[in-house]
Amino acid sequence: VPRPLIVVSNRGPVTYDRDDAGRRVERRGAGGLVTALRGLRDRDDVVWIASAMTDEDRAAAAESTPGIRLVAHEPRAYDLFYNTVANPFLWFLLHSLWDRAVAPELDESFHVAWRDGYEEVNRAFAEAVVAELDNEPEAAVWFHDYHLFLAPGFVRQARPDALLGHFVHTPWPTDWSALPEPLRRQVHEGLLANDVTGFHTARWAASFRRSCVDAVGACETRVTHHPISIDPTEFEALSRTAEVRAAVGELARSRPEKLVVRVDRADPSKNIVRGFHAFGVLLDAHPEWRGRAQLVARLDPTRERIPEYAAYREAIERAVREVEERHPGSVRVELSDDFPRSLAAYTQYDVLFVNPVFDGLNLVAKEGPLLNERAGVLVLSENAGAHEELAPWVVTINPNDVEGQARALHEALSMDESERRRRAEGLAAHVRANDLARWLEAELADLEAARA
Ligand code: F6P
Repeated sequence: VPRPLIVVSNRGPVTYDRDDAGRRVERRGAGGLVTALRGLRDRDDVVWIASAMTDEDRAAAAESTPGIRLVAHEPRAYDLFYNTVANPFLWFLLHSLWDRAVAPELDESFHVAWRDGYEEVNRAFAEAVVAELDNEPEAAVWFHDYHLFLAPGFVRQARPDALLGHFVHTPWPTDWSALPEPLRRQVHEGLLANDVTGFHTARWAASFRRSCVDAVGACETRVTHHPISIDPTEFEALSRTAEVRAAVGELARSRPEKLVVRVDRADPSKNIVRGFHAFGVLLDAHPEWRGRAQLVARLDPTRERIPEYAAYREAIERAVREVEERHPGSVRVELSDDFPRSLAAYTQYDVLFVNPVFDGLNLVAKEGPLLNERAGVLVLSENAGAHEELAPWVVTINPNDVEGQARALHEALSMDESERRRRAEGLAAHVRANDLARWLEAELADLEAARA
């Protein structure tokens, strides 16, 4: 295992704010990456480099906290990086979210944002990495995700012998044609500056090899794939807290006979709108579920200053209204960042509905089955990375096929007890055996093998 280790990601394990009394409070960072990597924060041989996001983060960036180095980017550069390039552009490209007849349309401001935002923030990260390497020249550097495709190239220029790895938490599409040359080349060369580049699945790793050949003529890095996971002990402990048990009690009292649950960031990649359409189609076609089945959607607000996300939230609200008009009381939407309530919903579902357009992995598909107490059925998109390992125990759906999703929900709601149990036990056993520690060990072993 490489020691020491420098972890580099845009979002850090915690984010700071001030409470009403003016005291600094710590919150858990959002998203799968942080959920998975938080544990590394407690190791004294790890330094984590991340962006300062809140004002309080910026204050903390100026102090020195052991184990964490927050980079306070220039605000304009960070805005262009996050709100123009990383999320509305790269995230959409990586998850194949555009209607290519009309989007994306890259005007001058995009090219400016690339240069003054994306390149700039990646350069600032690279400088922070080089400064840490000056303290610990033997450290391995481990970059994460689409925010940092260029940083490895900048570090490689400054420190040709450094040991660099990158883990890409998203899907990797084969089609990069929406990103103009030479930016496409820059992304691929940035990643190829790593000794190892890791993905969740064989599918994303294969399309990375292909797109490297298309973009730069070769793929000269070690490409590996290990699906990320969760820490079962941590999740089980969290599910026993008083807060979660209170939320479980409330849900248990208010629920109808069958609960279909979804838990997502309110992100277009998660396919929430088609999910509501599918639930509406289910109730249209199957009067027997009316009044007996309810869809509870726990949606975490996310990236709200980006117009595409605001528009998607409106589309969600419209879809909910449509279903509610036809089938009053059939859906319950909770738009809030409330981790305990999400855990409570996991314990209570009869069907867990995970239908992303594309998803690097999707941790909900692992968290839910671990905590569920009702032998619930997982309905899972074939385009979620987790499908590569969980297929034997799920009801598979195609994310575009709304009719197919409605049928899958019916199949899952109607499944007999022994079959549900067989599948639920298979899922939980798989997640326990293939846990986060195992992923981490495999990833760090790849990095160490590259040193040799
Ligand atoms: O883990 C998936 C992920 O997309 C991370 O890359 C990202 O940091 C997180 O979810 C949440 O998104 P954001 O940082 O934009 O709030």
